[in-house]
Amino acid sequence: MARIVAGVACSHIPAIGAAWDNGKADEPYWRPVFDGFEYSKKWIAKFKPDVLIVVYNDHASAFSLEIVPTFAIGCAAEFPIADEGWGPRPVPKVIGHPELASHIVQSTVLDEFDITIVNKMEVDHGLTVPLSLMFGRREAWPCPVVPLCVNVVVYPVPTGHRCYMLGRAIRKAVESFDLDLRVVIFGTGGMSHQLQGPRAGLINREFDTRFLDNLTRDPQSLTRIPHIEYLRETGSEGIEMVMWLIMRGALDDDVREAYRFYHVPASNTALGHIILENAS
Ligand code: DHB
Ligand code: FE
Repeated sequence: MARIVAGVACSHIPAIGAAWDNGKADEPYWRPVFDGFEYSKKWIAKFKPDVLIVVYNDHASAFSLEIVPTFAIGCAAEFPIADEGWGPRPVPKVIGHPELASHIVQSTVLDEFDITIVNKMEVDHGLTVPLSLMFGRREAWPCPVVPLCVNVVVYPVPTGHRCYMLGRAIRKAVESFDLDLRVVIFGTGGMSHQLQGPRAGLINREFDTRFLDNLTRDPQSLTRIPHIEYLRETGSEGIEMVMWLIMRGALDDDVREAYRFYHVPASNTALGHIILENAS
């Protein structure tokens, strides 16, 4: 049987990808960012997942505003890197796991989550920046990825509670998949950030710290945060944090915090990162 063994949350700030790709990782501004992932790289090399489920949001790269699925699962054999305006990032294409992805779709739809099936899709910084941070520079990514794309761009976006319950359903799906696979689930995006308007650059360290604390010990309390509170306290893009609740819902009730990293400044965003291991 397949099992979800751990969860990783990680911001997906595109400027990190650009810094990495353009050889700026050693510059004083960026060095602390990449240093913050040294432990994580060793952890994931040792943890050796067979497959990743990466919960992320598309930034109008694969889906224009013409079609905006709330939850979409990539069932393709591979996912090319999107061109976000400066050419595609020079990173390997993402290899999918169509069998597991289709199984998750089947199981979650029967569990009454209306998932969009995506058989052709490009993936943008929302998915590739966390891969770069966790795996560094590669000829090929070390394992296949099931992309789970969530709309956090156009309102109405799903509630934190809905996301958490989807995580629960994903866990059930994975545990009913026949192959013996170690699965790690990523929740990406966040933490507090606002990219435009008078509040651009908003950072709320206190909220972010509480969110990280409760992700481990009281995720139920996080599922009750309304959209307006994310908006007010964490800026317009802070809503990306609901994706972390999908990751958390897919883990055991009891988890161990293996690592945490919080850093400002990195572009306009508070960079948050946490690794949670299932206690059992
Ligand atoms: C930034 C962060 C994001 O999550 C994003 O999608 C785009 C930009 C930023 O911090 O600059
Ligand atoms: Fe984003």
